[in-house]
Amino acid sequence: MPYTLPADVDERPVVIDGAGTLGRQIASVYAAGGSDVRIFDLSVEQREAAREYAEEQIPETQRTLGLRPARRGRVEVADDLQEAVAGAWMVIEAVPERIDLKTEVFGDLDRLAEPDAILCSNSSSIPTSQMIGKVERPERVLNTHYQQPPELNAVELMSCGKTDEGVIEALMEKFLRYGLVPFRVRRESDGFIFNRIWAAIKRECLMVVEEGVARPEDVDAMWEIWTRAGVPPFRLMDRVGLDVVLAIEEHYAEVRDGIPEGPRKLLREYTDEGRLGVKTGGGFYDYPG
Ligand SMILES: NC(=O)c1ccc[n+]([C@@H]2O[C@H](COP(=O)([O-])OP(=O)(O)OC[C@H]3O[C@@H](n4cnc5c(N)ncnc54)[C@H](O)[C@@H]3O)[C@@H](O)[C@H]2O)c1
Repeated sequence: MPYTLPADVDERPVVIDGAGTLGRQIASVYAAGGSDVRIFDLSVEQREAAREYAEEQIPETQRTLGLRPARRGRVEVADDLQEAVAGAWMVIEAVPERIDLKTEVFGDLDRLAEPDAILCSNSSSIPTSQMIGKVERPERVLNTHYQQPPELNAVELMSCGKTDEGVIEALMEKFLRYGLVPFRVRRESDGFIFNRIWAAIKRECLMVVEEGVARPEDVDAMWEIWTRAGVPPFRLMDRVGLDVVLAIEEHYAEVRDGIPEGPRKLLREYTDEGRLGVKTGGGFYDYPG
């Protein structure tokens, strides 16, 4: 039978396990979307601070995400993990970024959570395949990587390698109801889609400053111009021409060590087919007429 969300999903709480910077932001999104939220954290101070934060942020989160549920969700705290997860349809782990810790946490969640509960990790860099050593039902485990909601409302979903496809599909649909924009990570990756892109941008920003090529304020001013124009990377490459992009990449590869071959290989696949971008009517996208 293909997986479907439980019929009573909207009456059941969402649990946040680990209520630091991200845990409390995620808590606010679910409460703002009308789900009851239960917060668990080992630290009593963090639990209480997270409840206050999540509750306080609900109106702003609703405004930012355009949420108008019939009622806002209740935000509760629990000082015991078993009590926290009782009845929950989804548990989101946001404890510190350590494989040993997350492996223990997932073992506990698998043992304590309802048999039909979905178990999610918010890890930024560790695939869930590395956290399921103590899990008996890995088909309900996956990464759901939030950034800084509500402003940054993208969520990336990545299988643990054994995740039921139906779980991923059901969440892709369900997340929309909370004003989130879900993206499927199509294979296991060390680092999520946007983190990897951001890592490359950040590294080059630091390099041009370290090499004395630019000042930080020049980089920031140029960034503002580029982001204001709002042309996304693959559309921009199509505008520039993929043959030109390839030539630029070949030049970097000649003068710099460590430039990976993959990006040039991908570009050659397009240029070999004559797909050079806007000027040939097709590149990464089609431009009919
Ligand atoms: N900070 C970010 O911008 C960001 C963005 C995306 C993803 N993440 C990911 O979210 C996770 C948490 O990051 P953070 O920045 O919120 O960390 P944080 O240090 O702010 O919060 C971690 C919380 O976990 C609690 N904790 C520690 N051990 C615990 C346990 N065994 N059970 C329950 N609670 C426990 C701590 O008391 C703390 O409140 C990490 O995996 C990180 O990669 C963070």
